[in-house]
Amino acid sequence: MAAYLDLVRQYSQTALAQVPAPAQQYLRNPLTPKALAVVLALSVLRTINKSLSQWTLNNWTGSPRWNPAHELVLITGGCSGIGKEVMENLSKTGVRVIILDINEPTSELPANVAFYKADITSSANIAQVAQAIRKDHGDPTVLVNNAGVGHDGTILEEPEAKIRQTFEVNTISHFLMVKEFLPAMVRANHGHVVTIASMASFVALGEMADYCCSKASALAFHESLRQELRSWYNAPGVRTSVVHPLWVRTPMIKLLTDHEAHFRQPIMTVEFVANAISKQILSQNSGQVILPASQSVASLVRAMPTWMQEGVRSFASGSLRRLRDVQQKEGL
Ligand SMILES: NC(=O)c1ccc[n+]([C@@H]2O[C@H](COP(=O)([O-])OP(=O)(O)OC[C@H]3O[C@@H](n4cnc5c(N)ncnc54)[C@H](O)[C@@H]3O)[C@@H](O)[C@H]2O)c1
Repeated sequence: MAAYLDLVRQYSQTALAQVPAPAQQYLRNPLTPKALAVVLALSVLRTINKSLSQWTLNNWTGSPRWNPAHELVLITGGCSGIGKEVMENLSKTGVRVIILDINEPTSELPANVAFYKADITSSANIAQVAQAIRKDHGDPTVLVNNAGVGHDGTILEEPEAKIRQTFEVNTISHFLMVKEFLPAMVRANHGHVVTIASMASFVALGEMADYCCSKASALAFHESLRQELRSWYNAPGVRTSVVHPLWVRTPMIKLLTDHEAHFRQPIMTVEFVANAISKQILSQNSGQVILPASQSVASLVRAMPTWMQEGVRSFASGSLRRLRDVQQKEGL
């Protein structure tokens, strides 16, 4: 052991001699080894923390390798924006994909993709389409609850019908879809339910009250579902993931992108977001994906001091307030 340490010391001295003189000064500083030890300890802790979280989310069960021949992916709202892009990504891996949407596809679908028209706010409609899907393709193994709507307007302005629709599509449909498609996953102890929530799950903005409430609910739905899978349905192999994108350039936010110069917030491409969602599905791991990752601190907003929380919400709401002023000036 002593000989080994001596060898390491000799090697370090030789290596140090190769480094430029000013850098040698820093490296010979007695604080440098302590600082390096702290960095090393932090990175070890980070790795342990990450893998502890991943194993906990996966109920301490290993994930099988993704085999496209054994999977059937069902995506709601697959005819536009994020859902359409995820469908295109996954279909390229050779897996069969089903898209369910209230609107028809606007372009030709790949051979391994099937479209079913349905309104996911109607349990009767879902049951009818589910019967056809099972007959034609079997039971879906991955359910992506992606379809969503977003309306503008303050709490006092927005019509009741639009508020109800936001909750029906963005939250209640998750219950209806899971009631229909989860039992087969539980029986097989295999599957993945992916909830497309939003950064709005963490940060509530003016003119988006219904949307923010519906996305905070979608996150709570995802968390409850995981508990039930683990402790009620005895299906530890069924995965659950939740995705929280910030703004994404899709038809949903056309009102914002049409006035981007006044909006002044970063907007992600649909490809970037769809790639992250597809990667999560292919990993067969449970998880929480915040996009962009650089904004992950948003998930901590409610733990911040009140003055900071209000600062974050006011900053983000400010962009929408500015847009409203511009729209009013333009008579929209
Ligand atoms: N675009 C963004 O900035 C953004 C940001 C965060 C989260 N999201 C979420 O991402 C998801 C996808 O949104 P997008 O931006 O791709 O929007 P989009 O408008 O491009 O696509 C939504 C799709 O959902 C379908 N749909 C709506 N109501 C339906 C219903 N009742 N039954 C069946 N299908 C229905 C629409 O026809 C459409 O094809 C949504 O849940 C949205 O809330 C979007």
